[in-house]
Amino acid sequence: MIKTIKGCKDIYGEDVEYFRKAEEVMRETSVAFGFKEIIPPVLEYSALFQRSVGKDTDIVEKEMYTFTDKGNRSITLRPEMTASVARAYVEHHFETLPAPVKLFYLGSCFRYEKPQKGRYREFHQFGVEVLGDESPLLDAEVISLAYKISEKLGIKGLKVRINSIGCKKCRPHYREVLQEALKPHYDELCDDCKRRFYTNPLRILDCKHEQTEMKDGLPKINDYLCDECSIHFEKVKKYLTLMNIPFEQDSTLVRGLDYYTKTVFEVVSENLGAQNALLGGGRYDYLIEELGGRHTPGLGFALGIERLVEILKTQNKKDEIEQIIYIAYQDESLKKAIEISDMLRNNGFITLMDSKGGSFGKQLQRSRKRNAVFTLIIGENELANNTVQIKDMKMQSQKEVNVGELLKELEGKNA
Ligand code: HAM
Repeated sequence: MIKTIKGCKDIYGEDVEYFRKAEEVMRETSVAFGFKEIIPPVLEYSALFQRSVGKDTDIVEKEMYTFTDKGNRSITLRPEMTASVARAYVEHHFETLPAPVKLFYLGSCFRYEKPQKGRYREFHQFGVEVLGDESPLLDAEVISLAYKISEKLGIKGLKVRINSIGCKKCRPHYREVLQEALKPHYDELCDDCKRRFYTNPLRILDCKHEQTEMKDGLPKINDYLCDECSIHFEKVKKYLTLMNIPFEQDSTLVRGLDYYTKTVFEVVSENLGAQNALLGGGRYDYLIEELGGRHTPGLGFALGIERLVEILKTQNKKDEIEQIIYIAYQDESLKKAIEISDMLRNNGFITLMDSKGGSFGKQLQRSRKRNAVFTLIIGENELANNTVQIKDMKMQSQKEVNVGELLKELEGKNA
């Protein structure tokens, strides 16, 4: 038997319903914040990610699905979508549009990571990007959008972690100070961090393998920010407070992509265990320039939909998702059953008609197997009286109603 590739999975059954419901909430909420959709291609030139995400990041070093195509070009299945949106901005001259340009996207991404709960090789991201405005108000707005989406989806135990990682002016100095402070601990570092010590020492701060006490004793970036970054960060925090978004400042948050400047943030959920970042993002004021455009500040975040679905399932929100109505009938009432199913479906009720027939007892058994909330029984008497029996499958109670009253009755029951 041919199976799915390691780290890839079919999304079916209740997962699809969680997935689509989440998609609806994310679309609606971002549209309300003035975002418009963009659908970038899955394949991009490898150079795009090398130049944006960064050559020394885990993603580019170890995790990209890269191949040479028949035209001898190096192609990569996108590991994330910010780089594609930035490329599109430059390629299609979005700088001619009124700033800021606000875009959202939804699609699959690919990373060759070790598969585990919440971590796949093919996964889906929903994300937003705001391009062409450096105001800290937008940092707060983007974080508040991320928070609102998570809140609307009913996720419990939410935490917003924020930090500022400085800019081209102040970060190099902090990098040196940090490297110096890390020197005495070099031998204790994990193999990845020994490499990061030279390539990107800031990443050592959020490595889960390193001792917390050691990290606590290191210099904090917040003490090394230049005036511009420091004022920007203070304003972001002030606006978040005005927007009533609870947050925690965490000086070890640095994030694993090279393009970030100033604000970085994550929304975490206690229901995700080790892979607890539901979403992550930040500001990237030099990315567009690095891809050949004019100086254009930008920021955004992306959320992993598989992780979201896992949280929602743990919270067992199933009952809010599907409410099936099952129709049981006899041969002589088939026409009526079809009419009633039609009416219910036209009014948005998920309606299943029994297809095997037989006694009402058998049909009720099948209804139970489908987890229906109500079974509508239409027999000889009901046909003669133009009524139906509504059987509440959980309460095991039954009520006869006139067909004309059926919709009102079901709506009243919130089916
Ligand atoms: P990221 O933190 O690499 O950021 O990914 C964002 C989210 O994608 C993560 O928080 C997680 O939910 C999900 N994710 C990442 N890798 C996997 C995986 N292997 N399996 C399942 N889910 C995963 C970015 O991708 C940036 N482009 C975010 C951004 C947008 N920054 C600014 N704008």
